[in-house]
Amino acid sequence: MNPTNQSSTQNQVHLAEKLLKICQRMNSERDLGALLDLICNEATKLMGADRASLFLLDRERGELWSKVALGSEAIRFDARLGIAGAVATTGQTINVDDVQRDPRFYREIDLRSGYQTQSLLAIPLRMHEGEIIGTFEVLNKKIGSFNENDEEILKALGAQAAIAIETAQLVEGMKRNRDQLQEENAQLWKEVEGRFSTQSILGSSEKIHAVLKLIDQISNSPVNVLITGESGTGKELAAKAIHYKSLRARKPFVALNCAALPESLVESELFGIERGVATGVERRLGKFEAANGGTLFLDEIGDLSLTAQAKLLRVLQERVIEHVGGRKPIPVDVRTLSATNKNLESEIRKGTFREDLYYRLKVIHVQMPALREIRQDIPGLANYLLANYCRETKKEPMHLSPQASAACMDYSWPGNFRELENEMRRLVLSVSGNTVAQEDLSEAMRRSGTTVAASSSTPRLLKEVVSEMEKRMIQEALQQSKQNQLHAAKVLGLSRHGLIKKMKRYNIRPRDA
Ligand SMILES: Nc1ncnc2c1ncn2[C@@H]1O[C@H](COP(=O)(O)OP(=O)(O)OP(=O)(O)O)[C@@H](O)[C@H]1O
Ligand SMILES: [Mg+2]
Repeated sequence: MNPTNQSSTQNQVHLAEKLLKICQRMNSERDLGALLDLICNEATKLMGADRASLFLLDRERGELWSKVALGSEAIRFDARLGIAGAVATTGQTINVDDVQRDPRFYREIDLRSGYQTQSLLAIPLRMHEGEIIGTFEVLNKKIGSFNENDEEILKALGAQAAIAIETAQLVEGMKRNRDQLQEENAQLWKEVEGRFSTQSILGSSEKIHAVLKLIDQISNSPVNVLITGESGTGKELAAKAIHYKSLRARKPFVALNCAALPESLVESELFGIERGVATGVERRLGKFEAANGGTLFLDEIGDLSLTAQAKLLRVLQERVIEHVGGRKPIPVDVRTLSATNKNLESEIRKGTFREDLYYRLKVIHVQMPALREIRQDIPGLANYLLANYCRETKKEPMHLSPQASAACMDYSWPGNFRELENEMRRLVLSVSGNTVAQEDLSEAMRRSGTTVAASSSTPRLLKEVVSEMEKRMIQEALQQSKQNQLHAAKVLGLSRHGLIKKMKRYNIRPRDA
């Protein structure tokens, strides 16, 4: 090999090494701004130029934009202008010794960057598939002018730079999406927490205040809570408020309706099941695992069978579950909130509820008051609901007349808040004016005006009043449930047997109600 060839090979090896190093640095830079600076700085040194510029094409706006090397401000201009524009639109390399004499030269860029360009070599930047993403320029060669060899080197560098830019742009786009999703997520959480906060529990009576205060007090402690109350008193609402106020708010809230849990499914529903336990059985997560780290809401806990109670108790004691068909114990961290409209203490006496489970579930007891126990709240709640439903259905605001208000306060509301909601919804649809009169109310409410006020009664009379109220509530519940005794008993918080006994005592025959 002659000395000239030898030194040219050495130069090429040297250049390849340099290019490789630059590529490595470019590929590890994910910040687009920093990457553009890096590419321009490296190109300036590698090409023996005084400066380098990178113009990226913004197709949407039809503009080229640049972050000129060495930290100058970004520049934007029409993508059809200047030598950079000509390269970006034609895809051709342009090599000019004296730009001042070239008609394509766009002086504005020099004016804005405060730089004077003399010689210029510009190549198109292309993505892998050939699409042009911008123009890459080196300016003012320090010795001599840019030659064909320089063009080759700049093209090699430009090809690698385009890949690095594409990657950085993708990463930047993903980060933007991630930030946007995080923001949306935070917004949604705010909404969820607002909807299920203690503020969603309405009422200003002492009893409601006591419930809210208790929920506040227990919010940061993971104790198990038993929520009792008649049907429709807001037990589920309270359970959600407790969860979304707790430190577990961002973890799952999983509800299980114990009344709808057939004996044969108890284990798989609670603990999950392995695939292939029986033919065609897929692997399924149990409620405990689904609620891990969060809250498991055991609704209608009073309806859980004794066998299921035993299984539940074991998990609460050991904090470990096993899938049906699996042998591996899986630790679980679950807080339970349980709800029932049954009197569990009497269930314990009857032998249908385990006392040990009862005490595990009822570390704290939240008792939701029946609507008739917070009578003073009724007019306010009723008018609030009327206003809400009017807004929803775009009707003029409505309110209760004083007589209708009094009748509502007198009524026993066996279905509690849910019944109040239904009644107000019905009124918004059925009443045309903006005042609800007593006659507009449902039949049962219109008849309720005769209830005796118990406050001034003697103890003997009190007993009579209670009996009278009890009788009327049973009649109303039977009527509302169309004589379905099971349903009426549920509404009243009684067993069917208990209801039948009371019906006998008050001489209520199904047809009478
Ligand atoms: N204090 C309250 N403030 C606002 N809404 C309430 C209140 N209590 C109950 N509600 C509403 O009444 C309806 C019934 O409430 P929820 O389902 O929580 O009652 P529940 O006690 O779980 O009833 P059930 O025993 O029939 O399951 C829901 O629409 C709920 O939003
Ligand atoms: Mg409920």
